[in-house]
Amino acid sequence: MNEVLEAIGKRYSARAYKDAPLTEAQREALINAALAAPSAWNKQPYQVIGVGDRELLRQIDADVLEALAAAEPAAAERVAGRGGKVMYDAPFVIFVPVADASHTSLVDVGIAAQNICLAAHSLGLGSVIMAMPLALFSGEKGAYWRERLGFYEGYGFGIAVAAGVSDAENAPHPLKTDRVSIIG
Ligand SMILES: Cc1cc2nc3c(=O)[nH]c(=O)nc-3n(C[C@H](O)[C@H](O)[C@H](O)COP(=O)(O)O)c2cc1C
Repeated sequence: MNEVLEAIGKRYSARAYKDAPLTEAQREALINAALAAPSAWNKQPYQVIGVGDRELLRQIDADVLEALAAAEPAAAERVAGRGGKVMYDAPFVIFVPVADASHTSLVDVGIAAQNICLAAHSLGLGSVIMAMPLALFSGEKGAYWRERLGFYEGYGFGIAVAAGVSDAENAPHPLKTDRVSIIG
């Protein structure tokens, strides 16, 4: 099996990370992977904001949890049940704000997210895509955090991806091959 297929098949969402920062080269590789993603009409309707400041990440995490508790109590309870961390103490999180919520723009941010995950896997790093921070950026403190992280005017939260040395031992999810049909 070639390396790309192996990365696709072996990637999993890592929800625990070792306390080890990413190197500059690793950060750059992940960010460039996002920038290399295809997008409809090559619009690239997003920003790519890497955050490696651990204290800032802790503040964001706490505020996401607070916003989640207000907006989606059941989700907040699930997070509390698995350690109380939305971003799992990952040493590096890439936020991908999006210009608009059109069908293609949301697909575009999803592709950028998976590019980051596959790049992380290829570097021996774990990663997890995160939609939960949406509660923060669209909640009461949303304007503060959008400005604090430097979202462009009018941009909203698209997706975020945490990355770091995995301390989790998940297996890749089983493939639902019964959902596949091939015509011709
Ligand atoms: C759009 C999207 C949003 C997600 N949001 C979260 C999230 O906020 N927190 C989390 O822990 N996992 C999140 N995940 C990860 C999924 O739970 C995970 O991909 C799924 O359970 C399959 O597991 P696997 O990634 O290990 O194959 C998200 C995944 C996607 C694609």
